[in-house]
Formats: sequence, C-alpha cells, structure tokens
Amino acid sequence: MAVRTAVIPAAGMGTRFLPATRATPKELLPIYDTPALQFVIDEAAQAGCTRVVIVTSRAKPSIENYASAASTDKVAVTVVYQDSPLGLGHAVSCARQAVGDEPFVVMLPDEIMGDASLTKQLVALYEKSGKSSVGLKRVAAVEVSSYGNVKVADTKIGDATSVEILQVIEKPKPADAVSDIVIIGRYVLSPKTFEKLEQVKPSANGELQLTDALAMLASEHALLGVVSEITRYDTGTPMGLLRAVIEIALERKDIGPQLNSWLKEKFNK
Ligand code: UTP
Repeated sequence: MAVRTAVIPAAGMGTRFLPATRATPKELLPIYDTPALQFVIDEAAQAGCTRVVIVTSRAKPSIENYASAASTDKVAVTVVYQDSPLGLGHAVSCARQAVGDEPFVVMLPDEIMGDASLTKQLVALYEKSGKSSVGLKRVAAVEVSSYGNVKVADTKIGDATSVEILQVIEKPKPADAVSDIVIIGRYVLSPKTFEKLEQVKPSANGELQLTDALAMLASEHALLGVVSEITRYDTGTPMGLLRAVIEIALERKDIGPQLNSWLKEKFNK
C-alpha cells in the first residue's frame, strides 16, 4: 500500500530551550528564517506524502496557526491534539484516527535532514516489504546511550544498506549496548504499530516510548532499517540548533557567501 501520510509529533514541552519555549514552541524556532517544522513538512512532500498530520498541544496555539497556512497544492496539513505530553509513543497514537488503517511516516521535527533521500528510501523499503522501516545511523560508542540502539541481522536485504532489526533497546547503558547502530528520527510504520502502542507500558519517567512498540515489531521479525550516512542536524538542543542554523545558512546561495566572509573576517582578527 502506498505511503501518503506523514505524522509530525510536536506536542513536547521543549524544556531544553527554556526560556525561549515559554513563548515559541521548539518546532517553530527558526533555522535562519524558516521554522524547523517547515523543513520537515517540505521533506514529507518531497518524499511523496500528500497529507501531514501534526500532533500538537493546546498549550502551543502557534503550531496550529502555522499549520493553518502550511497546506500547498502538494500537501494538506492538519493538526490533532495530545492533551498531555505522555511521550513520543503516546503522541503517535494520538494520530491514529487521522491516519486510518494505512502505513504512515513519522518525522521528528527536531532532526533536520540534509535532503529527503532517507525518507524516500524508507518509503520504498516499506512499499516493497510491507514491513515497518526505520532510519538508522552508526555513532561513536559514547553516543549510543542517547538513542534507541538496535541489533541487526548479518544478512542485508536488497541493497547494501537495508537490514532486518532483531532487537531494540531504548537508551542502553554503555555496557548494555548491542551495536554502534541507533535509530534516528525517520520511521515508516505499518498500521499494526498502533496496536503495539496500545500494549506499551509507561517507562520509568511515565512516558509511552515509541521504541517499545518498535521492540515488539522486531521480536516478530516485522522491523527493517536503512543504515544511512545522510547529513543530519540534531536541533533538539540549543547548540545543535545553532550549528544547524550556521551550516544550513552557509549552504544557501542567497546568504551563504555573505555569512562565510563575515565568519572569516571575525576569526582572522
Ligand atoms: P523530545 O523529547 O525531543 O521533545 O521529543 P521535548 O520533550 O519537547 O524536549 P525536551 O526534552 O523537553 O527539551 C521529540 C519530538 O516528539 C515530540 C516533541 O514535540 C518533539 O518534536 N513529543 C515528545 C510529543 O509530541 N509528545 C510528547 O509527549 C513528547
């Protein structure tokens, strides 16, 4: 079945960006002049999605305002609500009715990708295999404990980068890591994922983790991944956002040369 809907969870508290997030949701903080949320909406459209469902909170009305002007001739943008921030897994389950009984993309708006290639690869893998497929990346050993960590099968599927995921562990202690491969914020999920989310128990911090539903899929041999070297900006922290702003601005034809010469002037003093 074709993948046509993208879900963007945007109902979190954004505590790492206080005090900015008292007034502006994290997802609307600008990468130079364009909100992070817009980058993800554009990526969804480039990957062939015609519907975007943003999961937001009633405490963040500016997301809804932004969404109301974000539809284009390619993509229809709507919102659903998560009444309290009970975790990423819970946020995704809030989109169940809007998505319906069909596969969907989940895109985390605090991870900005250099292009839409990974999401396109995940959509293609889902459409070929019928199995949920998630973005993966190799990281240094010290970074593994910040992510969902996966054990993958030795055999590759189809091309050199697609693998079966055998096990998923959320933020393991370094000694418990099962590989140097982690999940990044792009997922193409089968509608069965909603059933798995219903079975997920709250983690120690009371949140429902999407990773726990993925672990259930993996245990049933129903989870694949694409190991990617895509350019990725983690804009979930102020320093990550600052780096993304500088790097993405440097790449732009309209402002890149100007920023480049200002930076050179500054550092040559
Ligand atoms: P994060 O955990 O990075 O976002 O979730 P957060 O909770 O807003 O950040 P901090 O830790 O307080 O700074 C990743 C994405 O999932 C959404 C967030 O809005 C973010 O886009 N999310 C998270 C939800 O929609 N609902 C939740 O309950 C949790």
